[in-house]
Amino acid sequence: MAEVGAVGIVGGGVIGAAWAARFLLNGIDVALFDPDPEVERKTLEVLANARRAQTRLHGAALPAEGKLSFAASVAEAVSQADFIQESLPEREDLKQRVLAEIDAAMPAHAVIGSSTSGLLPTKLQSVMKRPDRLIVGHPFNPVYLLPLVEVCGGDQTSQQTIDIASALYTRIGMKVLHVRHEIDGFIADRLLEAVWREALWLINDGIATAAEIDDAIRFGAGLRWSFMGTFLTYRLAGGEAGMRHFLHQFGPSMEWPWTKLVGPKLTDELIDTVAAQSDEQAAGIGLREYEALRDNCLVDVIHALERSDFAAGAVAKAYRESLAGKEAVKLGSDCGDGHLLTCHTPVMPEWIDYNDHLTESCYLKLFGDATDVVLARIGAGPDYVASGFSFYTVETHIRHLGQARLGQKVEVRSRVLGSDGKRLHLFHAMTNLDTGTLIATGEHMLVHVDAKAERSASAPESIAAAIRGLADEQQHLAPPDGAGRSIRMPG
Ligand SMILES: NC(=O)c1ccc[n+]([C@@H]2O[C@H](COP(=O)([O-])OP(=O)(O)OC[C@H]3O[C@@H](n4cnc5c(N)ncnc54)[C@H](O)[C@@H]3O)[C@@H](O)[C@H]2O)c1
Repeated sequence: MAEVGAVGIVGGGVIGAAWAARFLLNGIDVALFDPDPEVERKTLEVLANARRAQTRLHGAALPAEGKLSFAASVAEAVSQADFIQESLPEREDLKQRVLAEIDAAMPAHAVIGSSTSGLLPTKLQSVMKRPDRLIVGHPFNPVYLLPLVEVCGGDQTSQQTIDIASALYTRIGMKVLHVRHEIDGFIADRLLEAVWREALWLINDGIATAAEIDDAIRFGAGLRWSFMGTFLTYRLAGGEAGMRHFLHQFGPSMEWPWTKLVGPKLTDELIDTVAAQSDEQAAGIGLREYEALRDNCLVDVIHALERSDFAAGAVAKAYRESLAGKEAVKLGSDCGDGHLLTCHTPVMPEWIDYNDHLTESCYLKLFGDATDVVLARIGAGPDYVASGFSFYTVETHIRHLGQARLGQKVEVRSRVLGSDGKRLHLFHAMTNLDTGTLIATGEHMLVHVDAKAERSASAPESIAAAIRGLADEQQHLAPPDGAGRSIRMPG
């Protein structure tokens, strides 16, 4: 099974554009067709948001971006694609008509994933000449950040199609939930619809406003849902006796007439009420601004879950590890000219100042990180620190020579300038990889310490020998420009 190299996207609205971004940011080329005259502007805006969010989430681990092209027809978007993601409006007749068009124009080996939120794949594939090539790949908004994709085959979908789609979605950092029984609304939207239905009833009956209903979720159950879902949460709510006790205690209330089986009638009045409350809740904040806030919060939640290696955090961590194998950059390795490569990262949003430049304090942060890589290389990494010994920085001199902006990549190359039994003299050079210019140097004196005794101490022979070895490898390098400088007024 050859790896998918090119993807065609048909329908570039909220979901299609975000799919395009997820594929592109994973190094996969995308051809997109949407008859909307504004498709280019909208897609590029979504891509910019996605790039920013993925950069915050995964940093330098991301591969080089794929190429994006805008096709003039469905056939042009799919004729060279290994995989097609259909993201048309949720209308069965329209999807069937365009799926037949895609089927006729795509290569024989290609597979189609449909983004439908609830239409049955058996019905969608019924119009296709090669129905075995269609699967539902139902994502969640924003597709470029949320890992879940529900994969559901129809009666005629082949196992090979399920395997190809699942492998591709996993490769781009998603969590595949295989919906084993074809059912309207699949699994996730059945659940979401139950909550949505009750929410609309609460507004319809004048019980609560849109903002109050959102508060009821986001300050309580929503926080738990993001990592434990419903059943694990309720298991814990049952105390030591677990789920059995929980069912006995709260199960009977399920038979009380709290909930309604169908939603309220969508009268003009209800639509006006919901829309007005939603506008009031949004308080004039625009779509893209809210999207950026949502993305920041999602990245923070995923990062937090990574610390516990749990739920969406575990998926993000595993994904980054899968990229690490492919990433050519290995910190602590020789750059090829004798220097050690000690930092390679895009400039993150939290590192920039009001001028959109890498802010002053972050130069020291990045040089500090680079020093840690050198220390790991000489055997003084985290394990050594845990043993009660370390190197402390006692003096630093940073020269600012240029700038780096948000998203540009920077690299630090490092070398040992000198050492004795206790002291280690390091020199780092930071380059903006996008402009190819040297933007800062950092010169640091470190002293080996016995942390428990809180005093300097000679480094053990193993570390002293590692430093000597590194210094020997670098001795052919000319003295770096700016080393040993001090600050004073000229003249
Ligand atoms: N919005 C969500 O939260 C969400 C979540 C998961 C899945 N989905 C599913 O994704 C699909 C797309 O939903 P959306 O929210 O992106 O809708 P949308 O209205 O934002 O986008 C649909 C796009 O399809 C384009 N289009 C219409 N006819 C076309 C044609 N013949 N060829 C190519 N493009 C055409 C439109 O111009 C539009 O840009 C639906 O099946 C929906 O159920 C939506």
